[in-house]
Amino acid sequence: MPRGVFITLEGGEGAGKTTLARRLAEALALAGQPVLRTREPGGAPGAEALRALLLSGDVAWDPVAEAMLMFAARREHVAKTIEPALAAGAWVICDRFADSTLAYQCHGHGLDPAVWHGLYDVALPGFEPDLTLVLDLPAEAGMARAVARGAPDRFERLGPEFHARVREAFRRIAEADPRRCALLDALLPPEPLYAEAAKVLRSRLGAPL
Ligand code: TYD
Repeated sequence: MPRGVFITLEGGEGAGKTTLARRLAEALALAGQPVLRTREPGGAPGAEALRALLLSGDVAWDPVAEAMLMFAARREHVAKTIEPALAAGAWVICDRFADSTLAYQCHGHGLDPAVWHGLYDVALPGFEPDLTLVLDLPAEAGMARAVARGAPDRFERLGPEFHARVREAFRRIAEADPRRCALLDALLPPEPLYAEAAKVLRSRLGAPL
């Protein structure tokens, strides 16, 4: 049984990650490829419990504690859901992963990136996505889309400068690791964006798309 492939989708609010993840998963399944679509924070029972604490709880987390919880959820997700699926030969498509913690907690909220590196080494030694699609969108366009679909006001409360920092962080992550990452123009409508993503999956991973 050949090992599966781990693909992550990253980007700011309203970039269209969820729509693209769904579209890619459908197309792979149609081509006869076993596929698992998942998302973070969450994706395993313990990680979903942490998601509830992180996203809807009323605790104002200490920044290091928050990052530790993100990585605790991530390790649980990898151990209980992602690794078993990869071992069974599935292609795993994950909406957000470790790059989101670097972009949001570090570049957005000011946590020292050294903390991110330390937590990564403890939680996921030697583990990384085979491919990361970074959906790039001007922060204002992303916010407008998020507001139009009735996103919770925590997004708006963070303010435009926060979202601009997050966008810049994702662009820099893609630039720093072009072997793993591909930067896609998320201003494209869903179908052309899917076509661009499918091209990357074909050329880099030999996807049957
Ligand atoms: P979600 O409702 O899933 O939104 P989205 O469609 O934008 O992914 O909420 C996830 C939120 O959690 C989003 O605002 C980004 C944030 N987040 C972090 O701050 N750090 C992380 O490591 C992850 C995975 C998500």
